[in-house]
Amino acid sequence: MFKFELLKTAKDSKARLGKITTNHGEIETPIFMPVGTRATVKTMTPDELKEIGSQIILSNTYHLFLRPGTEIIEKAGGLHKFMNWDKPILTDSGGFQVFSLSDNRKITEEGVHFRSHIDGSKMFISPEKSIDIQNILGSDIIMAFDECAPYPASHEYIDNSMRRTLRWAERCKEHHKNTDNQTLFGIIQGGMYKDLREISAREMVDMDFKGYSIGGLSVGEPIDLMNDILDFTTDFMPESKPRYLMGVGSPDYLFEAVERGVDMADCVLPTRIARNGTVLTHNGKIAIKNALYKEDFSALDKECDCYTCRNFSKAYIRHLFNVDEILGMRLATIHNLYFLLDMMKNIRESIRGDYFLEYKDDFYKKYGYK
Ligand code: GUN
Ligand code: ZN
Repeated sequence: MFKFELLKTAKDSKARLGKITTNHGEIETPIFMPVGTRATVKTMTPDELKEIGSQIILSNTYHLFLRPGTEIIEKAGGLHKFMNWDKPILTDSGGFQVFSLSDNRKITEEGVHFRSHIDGSKMFISPEKSIDIQNILGSDIIMAFDECAPYPASHEYIDNSMRRTLRWAERCKEHHKNTDNQTLFGIIQGGMYKDLREISAREMVDMDFKGYSIGGLSVGEPIDLMNDILDFTTDFMPESKPRYLMGVGSPDYLFEAVERGVDMADCVLPTRIARNGTVLTHNGKIAIKNALYKEDFSALDKECDCYTCRNFSKAYIRHLFNVDEILGMRLATIHNLYFLLDMMKNIRESIRGDYFLEYKDDFYKKYGYK
């Protein structure tokens, strides 16, 4: 079961309001997906994730393949059961992590040979293998195996890489049989080259996937360049299918993505920065370890209704971080995820009410974005 309903397109931009239905429930779009790389959104229980409004989480083929391995997750009855998360899960194909994390990798037409970043053992992932692993995981939305090319890279490099990713996408589609329960998305690549983005988008759309991801962005390029490529790319994507921008999760990137017609995004940013004591607030980011907050008994964000902000002060959370107490990381994670999920909810409301750009403007002014 997979359905995408486009409920509304904004008048003031390309922003869209929609709804995805999967076997594990509905997802309101635009949505932010918390990342649970190793079958856990770090420090959070499933109940806590639900309480802050997570509708779908993301996990990673690459990491779960290395540890605990597919056999154990298969024995557990799939990833949902293994981690006790009964709402939708999206898995990435490994096509990003194998390039960013592994050692000694060698790309061939067949797939990618690499050494595990954990114990150096020899591994191989091909398009077929990635689909096999994701079939065992049982995630609701699965990704085609791709190459996320580095930035910067030459036109020639991106051309070859993008065309190989197209051939790999064909093989993924051919190999994926569990189509009633798991929906495969194709990933558009093409680096920062519009001619290559256009070819990638057109060919992926011709292959008729149920949804399309935009990969190879937010890889170190300036935000204006990303916005330009993104704006260009979404124009080639069908209105009737969800659009997922991979690896984006700071407030400004999310607003810019939604403005250009993106429906889904994920990033480790809110959870990762939380664990080193960086907190998102309506007035911008703050570093909670700062001595400024030593005697500040107010909430992290006075406008936030999360569990952390309803119950604890900056001074207390600063103390937890300073003495390395793990509750500090948990409270900061709860707050950062709540902050982004609440922001996405407000974005959806603003699209519904035809005031998306006004909301963006107000948010930016307060947050301190230009
Ligand atoms: N995560 C962030 N960017 C990418 C990408 O280009 N491909 C994949 N598979 N995952 C990503
Ligand atoms: Zn909060």
